[in-house]
This record gives sequence, structure tokens and C-alpha cells, in this order.
Amino acid sequence: MSRTVVVTGGAAGIGRGAVERFLAAGDRVVVLDRSVESLDERVTGVQVDVSDRAALASVAEELGAVDVLVCAAGVQRYGTVVDTPWNVYDDVMAVNVGGVFFACQAFVPKLPRGGSVVVVASVQAYAAQKGVAAYSMGKGALLSLVRAMAVDHAEEGIRVNAVCPGSVDTPMLRTSAAQFGGGRSTDDVVAEWGRSHPLGRVATPGEVAEVIYFLSSPAASFMTGADVKVDGGLTAGLPVVLPEDAK
Ligand SMILES: NC(=O)c1ccc[n+]([C@@H]2O[C@H](COP(=O)([O-])OP(=O)(O)OC[C@H]3O[C@@H](n4cnc5c(N)ncnc54)[C@H](O)[C@@H]3O)[C@@H](O)[C@H]2O)c1
Repeated sequence: MSRTVVVTGGAAGIGRGAVERFLAAGDRVVVLDRSVESLDERVTGVQVDVSDRAALASVAEELGAVDVLVCAAGVQRYGTVVDTPWNVYDDVMAVNVGGVFFACQAFVPKLPRGGSVVVVASVQAYAAQKGVAAYSMGKGALLSLVRAMAVDHAEEGIRVNAVCPGSVDTPMLRTSAAQFGGGRSTDDVVAEWGRSHPLGRVATPGEVAEVIYFLSSPAASFMTGADVKVDGGLTAGLPVVLPEDAK
């Protein structure tokens, strides 16, 4: 049966991967993104900034029935707790945390029994690289929100889950690779980051989308409040290297 799926951040990256997966299943997709020019006629695009609570509420009011909400819009910003400027902190919290909270506030009341929410968090919710204090804090907050919502809305038959990706080949990752590549090609930097994952590469958006799709579907009917790592083994490993002579 065809469903109506709302995807925030569906114009690029992981959100775009999710859009393609739902379209392939025959679902109707509505994308909420601050930039919708890249979308084609297969989807309904609505230009909205997810940090704008009132705008999200009015979009939800205008749309008809919705079966699934995927929250993929997010921004990556850098800094320690000491050197993160206030405007960067505000941006990360407004988009990555507020954008999910308020999208859920707007759309959860529209979900039917059997409806579901999938939130894109990150492995940074469990363990942090250096210099991502606000981003990491925000992703941790999302897992707490997912559990709280799972408990609050279980009686209504609504499931709420999170995916926690490692590195995924998206415009966001490539922007970071260009920023921190020190003059190396973006492909080289992405490949190097891939080698830090036990599977030896970064993910494609489609690989994360597959898990988002599964969590949204009746196949995951007894899953709620879960956070599913899609990280190529990144958080399974310890960076311990045996001495050469012990190998
Ligand atoms: N790429 C990775 O390696 C990676 C890893 C873990 C988690 N994530 C998370 O996955 C999600 C998607 O990341 P991505 O890599 O696809 O990013 P991306 O930058 O490639 O795409 C993000 C999309 O969200 C939209 N967006 C950003 N801010 C918005 C706002 N305020 N309002 C509406 N739309 C907005 C952008 O326009 C874009 O279409 C983010 O939450 C990110 O934190 C990404």
C-alpha cells in the first residue's frame, strides 16, 4: 500500500537517498528542505527551514494525511566547547535538535496507528571525534528524544527510531573533506576516512536509506525507541595496533 512520507533534508545526501528508496517502493514523498531546486516532479518539494517552528506547523496543517516522518535535515559545525561561537552553537541546536523536535511536534499528531518516525542521528551520539562538541551534544539529545517519543506515542501505535550513521558520502561529508583536506583531493580524504571504518570505506546514502526504510516499515513492527548503527563497524573497534612481532 502506498504511503505518504515526509522527509526533512530530502534534497541532498542521506535524505535524498531516503527519498529514492521510498519512491522505489511506490510511496508518495514530500520533501521539506531549505533548498528544493534540485528536486524533480516525482516529489512534492516545500521550501522550509526546519529551525522555523511556525513554518513547520503551517506546512503540516496544509498537507493531508502523513504516514511516515523522516528527519534527515542537519548541519555539521566544528568547535570545542571553548571555541564554538554562540552563533554556531545556536545554529546546530536550532537545526539539528530544534528542527527534529519541531518537525515531530508538527507531524506526529497527523500520523495514523502504524505510522512511524525515523530520526537521522550519528555515531557522534556515542563517541566523539575532536572538535565537534555542539554537534555531538545535539546528536546525543536526538537519541534521548527518540526514546521519550517512543514511550509517549506507543499507545497510539506510533513507532519512533533512530539511525546512527558513520561517514556517508554526501555533500556534507565532501564539504568537510575539502575543508580539512589540507590541499589533498576530496576523493583521497573521503577514502582515508573510509579506511578508519572496519569495512574499509564510507557508506553510500542508499545504504543508510535502506535501514531508514526498514525502520519505517511494518517489517520493523516491534521496533521502537531503537538506535541502529549503520557505521561499517566504526564503533565496534578499538584503535589498538599489535606490535609487528606479535602478528
Ligand atoms: N554524511 C555523514 O557522514 C553523516 C554521518 C552521520 C550523520 N549524518 C547526519 O545525517 C543527516 C543528513 O546529512 P547529510 O550528510 O545528508 O547532509 P547534506 O548536507 O549532504 O544534506 C542535508 C540536507 O538537509 C538540508 N538542510 C540543512 N539544514 C536545513 C534546514 N535548516 N532546514 C531545512 N533543510 C535543511 C540541506 O539543504 C540538504 O538538502 C544530518 O542530520 C547529519 O548530521 C551525516
